[in-house]
Amino acid sequence: MGDYKENIIPHSHSITKSDRVAKNGYQPKVLWFTGLSGSGKSTLASALEVHLHNKDYSTYILDGDNIRSGLNNDLDFSDRSRQENIRRISEVAKLFIDAGVIVLTAFISPFKSDRKSARDLVGPENFIEIHVDCPLEVCEERDVKGLYKKARAGQIKFFTGISSPFEEPENPDIRVNTADDSLEDCLAELIKKIEPKISL
Ligand code: ADX
Repeated sequence: MGDYKENIIPHSHSITKSDRVAKNGYQPKVLWFTGLSGSGKSTLASALEVHLHNKDYSTYILDGDNIRSGLNNDLDFSDRSRQENIRRISEVAKLFIDAGVIVLTAFISPFKSDRKSARDLVGPENFIEIHVDCPLEVCEERDVKGLYKKARAGQIKFFTGISSPFEEPENPDIRVNTADDSLEDCLAELIKKIEPKISL
């Protein structure tokens, strides 16, 4: 029977990414937010999206809890599933880049190797890693979704920061600290660093 993949022959379409970039007038990027649950990834991604949208950029947010309710609703929180979660998100983000859209991803993405695979897949030139830094104690104190309490009580297995690791990014493109700085200051920092990278 042979390998079924041998019979997949991708088509080259007439309109390419460069056509879309030229038409839009900016460089699409993946803005990859990584950090603990409750660190502020979704809040910051959302605020940044409002800013970019109001400046006429086409944007889209891929967010952990949302994507896990649809595309990735077959995945749990084992290391293997988290890897598959990030692999699928990276493939989706790559499509958005090709479509000329600025894509903001908000996933814990706790493993260095998975973040590196994401960067390699979408192309390092398209990828901006943003570490939303916030000490575990502060995230746990906030406990916006009440999940840390459940994790401490043993009701959630493999909870990041409690019973599953978070590997800190050593060299993120941007780092903001949501424990020390206000949302407005973190947002201003992101805008300052990102806008020059998306302008042509
Ligand atoms: S990731 O590790 O695979 O990148 P992802 O960002 O998609 O995680 O999903 C994290 C969200 O799922 C958290 O914000 C939280 O609301 C919820 N969640 C449920 N169970 C867990 C768990 N065991 N560990 C971390 N987050 C969990």
